[in-house]
Amino acid sequence: MRASYLTAYGGNEVVSSGELPDPVLSEGTSLIEIKAAGVNPVEPAMRAGGFQRVLPYSFPQVPGFDISGVVREVSGPSQFKAGDEVYARMANRAPGAYAERAVVANDLLAKKPTKISHIEAASLPTVALTTWQAFFERANLKKGDRILIQAGAGGVGTFAIQLAKHFGAHVTATAGTANQAFLKELGVDVAVDYTKQRFEDFGPFDVVYDGVCGELVERCINTLAPGGRYVGLVMVSDARAFMSLGLPEAMAKGAAAGIAKYEALAASRGAEFHGPLTRPDANQLAEIAKLVDDGIIKPHVRQVFGLNQLKEAYEAVATGRTRGKLVLDTSKLV
Ligand SMILES: NC(=O)c1ccc[n+]([C@@H]2O[C@H](COP(=O)([O-])OP(=O)(O)OC[C@H]3O[C@@H](n4cnc5c(N)ncnc54)[C@H](OP(=O)(O)O)[C@@H]3O)[C@@H](O)[C@H]2O)c1
Repeated sequence: MRASYLTAYGGNEVVSSGELPDPVLSEGTSLIEIKAAGVNPVEPAMRAGGFQRVLPYSFPQVPGFDISGVVREVSGPSQFKAGDEVYARMANRAPGAYAERAVVANDLLAKKPTKISHIEAASLPTVALTTWQAFFERANLKKGDRILIQAGAGGVGTFAIQLAKHFGAHVTATAGTANQAFLKELGVDVAVDYTKQRFEDFGPFDVVYDGVCGELVERCINTLAPGGRYVGLVMVSDARAFMSLGLPEAMAKGAAAGIAKYEALAASRGAEFHGPLTRPDANQLAEIAKLVDDGIIKPHVRQVFGLNQLKEAYEAVATGRTRGKLVLDTSKLV
């Protein structure tokens, strides 16, 4: 099959494109003809070896987690049969989205939203699951909560704004000057231009959903109202997140030692700190597909690349300036 793959850990020079052997079906999996694959900003960091201790690659490694496609063969019990259209978040330990075919565990497959294209469906799994799990498994987002969404114009933010509005939250989101009108289009109540304004001036917030982190973490925690919940996505994973990747508790606590200061700061304010990592979940994807088909959530795909253009896609996503999502059309070579 044609694929884009990595030959080693490193920079973009380790990204190749060409023929690889077809994946082999095993019990409890399905062979998926991939139509489109979504790109996520964590992948250049994974390519560079940043996650090799917890999520080791085996080369040649096809990366990528988000797919939309058609079931071609099924082994073992599954709710789907050959010909069904599905979308999925592939397992953290078994990526392989940038190829014509992949073998995926049957219990990770969800029915693709019917009213959108494969390109649009492939843009959703990671950002949608990340947000669903952050809102409902961590922050316990409720109607009327005041939420601050950092990086509102990015892949996660565009989904998060729409989901938070749907569940009745009051939404403040940040972006640069060029994305202010886009934030409004997405439905925010308050758009904050972080190049000119301080988000603290629009608080306090019941929930902060932070897709930027770094020097913003402490500032975000300090804007929480008593009882508030902070959920950070970038390099602030907590022990619960590492345990969800299969690390034993003692190792998970060790891996999360760096965020103890944030947990203490949040606790001192009567608030909570959360640092989750995305987990595949087909039931949640099925719920999300219903919201998409009901027109409540609209995917925002900024740019489509060919299957052989993973290098270009990684260059684009690494700028940190993407509006919405980047997707590879796996049926196209450019
Ligand atoms: N923990 C997890 O499991 C998990 C899951 C998903 C994502 N993540 C991480 O979460 C982060 C966000 O993901 P994403 O997919 O949304 O990334 P993305 O699409 O690459 O985000 C790009 C957006 O970030 C905005 N941005 C950059 N700096 C900003 C700042 N200082 N303040 C506000 N907005 C800023 C940009 O808007 P402007 O151009 O207007 O600045 C741009 O629209 C990434 O680092 C990703 O790796 C983690």
